[in-house]
Amino acid sequence: MADQDSRAGGRYATVQILDYAARTHHPDDRALRRAFEAPSRHGMPEIQLGPAEGRLLEMLLRLVAARKVVEIGTLAGYSALWMARALPPGGHLWTIEADPLHAEVAAEVIGEAGFGDRVTLIKGDAADVLPKLSVSAPFCAVFLDADKGRYDVYGRWATENLRTGGLLIGDNAYLFGKLLDDIEEARAMRRFHEEMAQHYRSVCVPTPDGLAVGVRVDPEA
Ligand SMILES: C[S@@+](CC[C@H](N)C(=O)[O-])C[C@H]1O[C@@H](n2cnc3c(N)ncnc32)[C@H](O)[C@@H]1O
Repeated sequence: MADQDSRAGGRYATVQILDYAARTHHPDDRALRRAFEAPSRHGMPEIQLGPAEGRLLEMLLRLVAARKVVEIGTLAGYSALWMARALPPGGHLWTIEADPLHAEVAAEVIGEAGFGDRVTLIKGDAADVLPKLSVSAPFCAVFLDADKGRYDVYGRWATENLRTGGLLIGDNAYLFGKLLDDIEEARAMRRFHEEMAQHYRSVCVPTPDGLAVGVRVDPEA
């Protein structure tokens, strides 16, 4: 969620408090600002993560010493940039984007930020791309931020392709408030939550639209 009002999700949070906290803990720099503003510059939907969520992603990847990461849903590369920054030399991010305009803008943003060698942007539908990516498994983290009705499918792919101790992260896990509705998209999202709870040590962090985070447990244990 990108706009300031939707970031003000916490009980005591105001826009001013959120801005103070962001400025103090993770001030913007030029590359992050360019990436954050790219959707608006190019007339794309402004549905990128908020800055605190981006920082949280970066920190989570650092905490598990992630070297190989997959993202589904690049948009203009804002979250990809946060994650690329967490990678050690030799680490790699594969990010998948179905929309040709989004992919083109993201390639420019990522290249401009100097991460062209550490990030592979794959154009296409994640459902087609993921089976081919399995040759590079096991991965250290998989971040889902694309079509919500297929989080269950993407989650299963992640469970088969993550190392023990790897992270599965899903944004919009409250499905814009529709998580408990009687619609197929919500049923798929609930399957994602329930299967994550089964195979991961997990939590759904109450960000404005919920960020599900799970650590893959040893399937043999
Ligand atoms: C919420 S945006 C991603 C935001 C990005 N992660 C960020 O925070 O900067 C979702 C993106 O997923 C893409 N998308 C939707 N369905 C997809 C699919 N099946 N495969 C790949 N990309 C898809 C959309 O075109 C859109 O650019």
